[in-house]
Amino acid sequence: MLVPAAAEARDVPLNSLGTSAGQAQRRADGTILLRPGATVRTDLAVREVHGVTVQLERRDRCSANLQVTARLGDQAASSVIGRTSRTVSFRLTAPAGTTRVSLSLTQLRDKAKDARAKKRRAQAKRRRAQANARGKAKASRRRVRSHRPRRLRPRRKVAVASPCQASLLLRGLSVLERLPLNAAMTTAHFGQDPFYQALFTQNFDGLTPENELKWASTEPQQGQFTFDAGDRIVNWAIANGKSVRGHVLVWDYQNSSYVTDPKDFYLLQHHWKRAELIAVMQEHILNVVAHFRGRIPEWDVVNEAFNDDGSYKNNVWYQVIGPEYIALAFRLAHQADPEAKLFYNDLGYEAGGPHTEAVLNMVRSLREQGVPIDGVGFESHFDISAGSITERMRPVLQAFANLGLAEEITELDVNTGPGGVDKLAAEAELYRQVARACVEQIACQRVTTWGYTDRYSWIGSDRQGLPFDVNYQAKPAWQALQAEARPAV
Ligand code: G3I
Repeated sequence: MLVPAAAEARDVPLNSLGTSAGQAQRRADGTILLRPGATVRTDLAVREVHGVTVQLERRDRCSANLQVTARLGDQAASSVIGRTSRTVSFRLTAPAGTTRVSLSLTQLRDKAKDARAKKRRAQAKRRRAQANARGKAKASRRRVRSHRPRRLRPRRKVAVASPCQASLLLRGLSVLERLPLNAAMTTAHFGQDPFYQALFTQNFDGLTPENELKWASTEPQQGQFTFDAGDRIVNWAIANGKSVRGHVLVWDYQNSSYVTDPKDFYLLQHHWKRAELIAVMQEHILNVVAHFRGRIPEWDVVNEAFNDDGSYKNNVWYQVIGPEYIALAFRLAHQADPEAKLFYNDLGYEAGGPHTEAVLNMVRSLREQGVPIDGVGFESHFDISAGSITERMRPVLQAFANLGLAEEITELDVNTGPGGVDKLAAEAELYRQVARACVEQIACQRVTTWGYTDRYSWIGSDRQGLPFDVNYQAKPAWQALQAEARPAV
């Protein structure tokens, strides 16, 4: 099936393609000459792919049509190339990850020519049969008269044209990527507001439960786990074909009081001993992650461990366990679900500075220690005055990508300050800039907004932080986000 070329296509360097021996020939100008039977292929690290585009130039004057088949993972689509050069787009899809993309060329039989040849053969056969019949009748008459052997008439020679060498020049190959757009959601409005879930399912690819998986929700009393709300939202997402990010295992907010109250060393009799708190953390992580294993493919393991000056936050985990609580949390999460992708999530380090340096050093050190960390989440709670954010995020995203980490924008919203539709264009521009920073960096795999309608936003409806307004109408911010993340097909 053909689709028009999308605005956001990522070129695959032709020199990265492996070629089948013989039929594919690299040329000095970087293009590749393909003959029937040729295949070129490569393995690519991609985001979600929704198409493959190929620029081809027909080089021969043969009458036969050529067929180009594009394969993406285990999907394939073909297109017939006549005598003209063209760009062909194939609607092929693949999830984010490493996928094989290949192109192969076959020569189609010339149907009209085949039909003419068939007709000629049939006529000749008929003539031979008639001649045979006549010959037999004569022969039987002759047999009576003589026993002379019959002289066969020599067969007419058919001229065979030398086969035409078909060829196509491969001038370009690109994959059309799509950045998944997720949103945080909460069961608080499930069943209360008929539009809330519908708006989400129509517009987003996946969700992050806003509060349902936090400590206070999942283990309100020590050792007593409650997964009702978590199961409800996770199962609803899965039933609707949406992905889920798990948020969050270890944080300094929304903990149950038995975790945080003993941190007040001065007012309370008891405070945690290190081994005790490690045991508490272990029990929590192992139970929560194991409960959702197979349903939640990625987790924010530790949230917001640093202050903006780059120092560790003095939370209960840091006070009692020390900075090693972070490595420990990742190891425990990995133990509970070795398949899950594990993220460190934070805010205020998206655009450089001491906070960014602190997180970089921490994740570098985790990697060096062999701690199973797969990615970093940039919350991206921005203020409307944030300015040219793409420029400032670009080197930060690159620095974390250089460590081999996956990246996501995990909690995007833009605080416009109180009131006024006049702020919506500036808000949209900031949304566009954040999405652009992510689109540009291949390690950045997804944008999640922290909620989606201003009706329900942690910063308040009047701050107009989200891409849909209080009446569920799409704002300019939504158009901007879509234009960057979901190029038209
Ligand atoms: O659960 C109680 C409920 O029983 C009570 O009736 C109600 C009364 O106000 O409060 C409820 O708890 C609230 C909870 O959200 C659930 O609605 C808390 O007061 C409220 O503080 C809490 O706010 C959440 C906030 O995290 C806590 O820090 C927000 O909904 C949530 O959007 C926000 O999300 C965080 C991310 O997890 C991490 N990054 C920052 C982000 C924004 O703060």
